[in-house]
Amino acid sequence: MTFQEKIEQHVGKLIVLTLFAVSIGGIVQIVPLFFQKSLTEPVENLKPYSALELAGRDIYIREGCVGCHSQMIRPFRAETERYGHYSVAGEFVYDRPFLWGSKRTGPDLHRVGGRYTDDWHRVHLINPRDVVPESIMPSYHWLATNDLDDALIQKKMQVLRTLGSPYTDEQIKNAPSKLKGKKEIDAVIAYLQNLGTSIKTKR
Ligand code: HEC
Repeated sequence: MTFQEKIEQHVGKLIVLTLFAVSIGGIVQIVPLFFQKSLTEPVENLKPYSALELAGRDIYIREGCVGCHSQMIRPFRAETERYGHYSVAGEFVYDRPFLWGSKRTGPDLHRVGGRYTDDWHRVHLINPRDVVPESIMPSYHWLATNDLDDALIQKKMQVLRTLGSPYTDEQIKNAPSKLKGKKEIDAVIAYLQNLGTSIKTKR
């Protein structure tokens, strides 16, 4: 009986050796990624989200925008022609959690920052059909009337700081004042306008 046949007749040994072989493959693929700078370090101009942008990001999560919009431009011509420079890992180091998404009912939003005016976004979020007649995006009119909640913003920034976002004490101290008197829509727009702007794109 060959070694191969012996192993194949002992399920326990087969499992152990299979796991051993698979884990070598896994280690070879995964471990180098921890040491590759382009994957672990922020791109040059990346800043952590401002208090207002961070609040907007949380509303983006609450409203489920990620269910229809990805934030991940793949390095294919069809994508870069439409959306701009493909996404790189170093742009996402302060994104907790990632909002890459996997479903594009609407367009990818990773480079939407600066593409439209604030006013365009305001009208579009209140009623998308006022600017894009054929749009099937839902209306988010309540964002324009809901007051922005500043109760947890400092705690959120503190938590993100322990996870690596380089907020200063000053930024955390001033955070509630940046949210004062604002509506939820202002925060969402600030967030959208910042998306993907740390890399200069020709578009
Ligand atoms: C049911 C799916 C759906 C959801 C949920 C959704 N959208 Fe959209 N979105 C679309 C579609 C479809 C379009 C393209 C038509 C248009 O511009 O309205 C779009 C377009 C956009 C655009 C313009 C993008 C561009 O490059 O022209 C922005 C910005 C946007 N959505 C933001 C949001 C935000 C913020 C939310 C959450 C508050 C959201 N969307 C939720 C479907 C959706």
